[in-house]
Amino acid sequence: MSLLSKLQTKNDHKHPQVSDQEGNHEQTNQDNIQTVIPELKKVETPKKKSIRKQLDQKHKDLKDLLHKQILQEMKDKDVESIVLKIDEMAIQIIEENESFRGNIDRKAVVEELINDLTGFGPINPLLLDEEISEVMVNGPNQVYCERNGKLILTDIVFRDNEHVLNVIEKIVAPIGRRIDESSPMVDARLPDGSRVNAIIPPLALNGPTVTIRKFSKDPFGIEDLVNFGTLTAEMATFLDSCVKARLNIFVSGGTGSGKTTTLNVLSNFIPDDERIVTIEDAAEIQLGQDHVVSLESRPPNIEGNGAITIRDLVRNSLRMRPDRIVIGEVRGAEALDMLQAMNTGHDGSLATGHSNSPRDMIARLETMVLLAGVELPVKAIREQISGAIDVIIQQSRLKDGSRKIVKITEVQGMEGDIIVLQDIFTYEQMGLDENRKVSGKLVPTGVRPKFYERLEASGITIPTSVFIREEEWSK
Ligand SMILES: Nc1ncnc2c1ncn2[C@@H]1O[C@H](COP(=O)(O)OP(=O)(O)OP(=O)(O)O)[C@@H](O)[C@H]1O
Ligand SMILES: [Mg+2]
Repeated sequence: MSLLSKLQTKNDHKHPQVSDQEGNHEQTNQDNIQTVIPELKKVETPKKKSIRKQLDQKHKDLKDLLHKQILQEMKDKDVESIVLKIDEMAIQIIEENESFRGNIDRKAVVEELINDLTGFGPINPLLLDEEISEVMVNGPNQVYCERNGKLILTDIVFRDNEHVLNVIEKIVAPIGRRIDESSPMVDARLPDGSRVNAIIPPLALNGPTVTIRKFSKDPFGIEDLVNFGTLTAEMATFLDSCVKARLNIFVSGGTGSGKTTTLNVLSNFIPDDERIVTIEDAAEIQLGQDHVVSLESRPPNIEGNGAITIRDLVRNSLRMRPDRIVIGEVRGAEALDMLQAMNTGHDGSLATGHSNSPRDMIARLETMVLLAGVELPVKAIREQISGAIDVIIQQSRLKDGSRKIVKITEVQGMEGDIIVLQDIFTYEQMGLDENRKVSGKLVPTGVRPKFYERLEASGITIPTSVFIREEEWSK
């Protein structure tokens, strides 16, 4: 069964998503959010608001008291024995202080403190919730998360800046990094592979700021992306063939637009008998094939030495007999080495980069090559780019939170000094529907790529109907 027919017959949804291919939307998100994150802000009357505020204050006071008591009485004890004692201590405090009696939620207070001690503090529940893909702490009083592509403000708060700093330290200490005024920015990883960035005052004006991209234990596959409406089954077949035919493919897009996810899906199209070398800042790519060598760059140590850059790894990978090189993100001088590799026999390589359109991606690559310090005339750089890259996939996060492959563009070659680009598939946005969700359609442009013959020469046939627009079918 071909990939196209498999995809067309498959319609089970792994996770309900924001929008389907036509931009129609399931009415699941908001309802789920309200039941799963009870802390979410809801509309409330002034009276209810004042009661809630009083309760919040009591909750905070009890937590502070317990915290102080733990510090005073159990400073030298191990975490396990403290956890066993916390509830008992809370009961005692409530008994001794009349103001805490009534409807204070003792269990919630105890749970929060246990989270502080054993996990990552108040954000622990968000990290454990598999439906949440990103957690953003903007100082102690504002925590956002992303669920189903939507940013949501939670009611989670930290005690103060110090509390957020403690959590950051807990994250970075095991990997031998530190965060303080002299090194106020750090990239790290949680034990489960989630990617963490932390930045603190004076650079971060809101207070210590943490951004966590959660590692997906079960990464999205091509069927998920088709079900989400990120691309059509026809586009998926096309990309599968491009990978198998060893075209060089570049995934371009804004931050968080789903580039790495698409790169991962494309890399999984690589045949099993090829040797794949992956190169990333933080290993995110998860491949199903057996023969994979994963390389990860290294930041400088505290003295500022010992950094191993993506460029170093790209150069090293060429001596590792790779059949395919997969680069997580190209953003600097490594662009030159990547293009040279693609032009000298390492075809079938895949990479991603930050940019807003295929044309813009080309301009950025030009700048990156210049960063490598070589004095090449612009035309020569463009020749390198157009000779190396066959396809640019443009990924976008739309206003309603859905991710789309908004363009698949062929890099056709040079005309004079200009690189010729031709869209093969594109997203035609119609506007917003009555629920202010984006509506639009992914369609072929009607143009068959120039490399079609190359695909056929590698024994790959794509039905030409894949490139024909719906309105042309009957003709
Ligand atoms: N096609 C998609 N549909 C829905 N959600 C997606 C899709 N692709 C990615 N996501 C989700 O969006 C988030 C960002 O994805 P990803 O890491 O692939 O983006 P990125 O463009 O590589 O981001 P960055 O620029 O930070 O490297 C993840 O939580 C991921 O699960
Ligand atoms: Mg990425």
